[in-house]
Amino acid sequence: MTKLSVNINKIATIRNARGGNIPDVRLAAINCEKFGAEGITVHPRPDERHITYQDVYDIRPIITTEFNIEGYPSKKFIDLVCKVKPHQVTLVPDPPDAITSNAGWDTIKHKDFLIEVISEFKEKGIRTSIFVDTDLKNIDGAAKINTDRIELYTEPYASGFSINKEKAVTDFTRAAQHALKHGLQINAGHDLNLENLKYFVKNVPGISEVSIGHALISDALYFGLDNTIKLYLRELR
Ligand code: PXP
Repeated sequence: MTKLSVNINKIATIRNARGGNIPDVRLAAINCEKFGAEGITVHPRPDERHITYQDVYDIRPIITTEFNIEGYPSKKFIDLVCKVKPHQVTLVPDPPDAITSNAGWDTIKHKDFLIEVISEFKEKGIRTSIFVDTDLKNIDGAAKINTDRIELYTEPYASGFSINKEKAVTDFTRAAQHALKHGLQINAGHDLNLENLKYFVKNVPGISEVSIGHALISDALYFGLDNTIKLYLRELR
């Protein structure tokens, strides 16, 4: 069964537009869980323009499901994650000024770095996941660095979906089959939404978790957070 982790960065973006504490990200995390989310994801960026480092500390104690922290493994990020000890850390290769994550790791080029960082998290008992595209070379590389999971970068699927969904999903099905053969667990995320989610999980084997932020929080403007989370869960079941 695929779990739904809700990325609450967008809640922090709205809060930060005004200063103050509206909307309250802690309350949003509590409510997402109350409404059925099976995990909460945050992505603190170096400039803290959405989720701040302090938010991560504040949210940690109220999580009753699964806490996933995403980010580029800078020294500051590694220290934060090791102190906060989430259930899962997802490593993304994005530069500090990226608007959003826009590529997976080159797991061959960054092999030594990833091995080192992953072993540090594993010593703390934190499950690791690394963001990758569907290139089988990068999946082979992921299998050699001792990560528990990969997270498939689904933007190319989402952008191809409305043109030709069968074609858009092909590389993902193949990549997932390949990852499963290596014994890797698989997450997925980026630009998943109410239109493309069901087809993805139906056609890509072994997806343990999806993390969804932008579309889900936007849908909540129209349907409310409670209904929206239930609509996403319905697509996954
Ligand atoms: N996974 C990763 C690694 C991300 O960086 C993001 C965006 O922060 C997501 C998933 C969620 O993407 P979206 O906001 O498009 O649902």
